[in-house]
Amino acid sequence: MAMPIYAKLRAGVVTTSAAQTQALAAELAAALPDDAILALHGDLGVGKTTFTQGLARAFGIETPVTSPTFNLYTTYLGKNGRTVVHLDAYRIENERQFDDLMIEDFLSKPYCLVVEWPEKIATWLPARTLHLTLSIESPGQHRVVLT
Ligand SMILES: Nc1ncnc2c1ncn2[C@@H]1O[C@H](COP(=O)(O)OP(=O)(O)OP(=O)(O)O)[C@@H](O)[C@H]1O
Ligand SMILES: [Mg+2]
Repeated sequence: MAMPIYAKLRAGVVTTSAAQTQALAAELAAALPDDAILALHGDLGVGKTTFTQGLARAFGIETPVTSPTFNLYTTYLGKNGRTVVHLDAYRIENERQFDDLMIEDFLSKPYCLVVEWPEKIATWLPARTLHLTLSIESPGQHRVVLT
C-alpha cells in the first residue's frame, strides 16, 4: 500500500521536476481539511509557487497560479466554492503592515490559505498551520518536508 501523504511528507519527498512537485501538492490537496493553512518555507526558487500551482489544480482551479507581484495575495475560486488564497509575504516589512489587511477572514473555510515566506507573518499563523519546508538538493532535485 502507498504511504499516506502526511507520513510521506513528514519523512520528506524528493522530486525531480516541477511537475512532480505539483503532483505531490495535488496529493496533499486531496487530504486537506476545508480550512487548511499551509506555510511554505524555503529560499528563492525552491518551488513554493510551483507547489501552490499543483495544489490549485487539484482544487479545480484552471487559472494559472503565478507569483502575486503587485498584490500581496491572489484568490482563486475552485470547485464546490473552495478557494485558494495565495499569499506571498516576501515584501511585508513588518507584521503591523500585515495587520491592516484583514487576512483573518481567510483562516476559515472555504479558504485554503497558502503562504510563501511565512516567517514574515509568523505570529498570524494558527497552531494548526501545516509547515512545509522546501529546499534544493541539486539542480532539478527539490525536497519537500512537513515539519
Ligand atoms: N523538482 C522541482 N520542484 C519544483 N520546482 C522545480 C523542480 N525542478 C526544477 N524546478 C524549477 O524551479 C523553479 C521554482 O520556482 P518557484 O517560483 O516555484 O519558486 P519559489 O519558491 O516560489 O520562489 P520565490 O521565493 O522567488 O517566490 C521553477 O522554475 C521550476 O520549474
Ligand atoms: Mg514564489
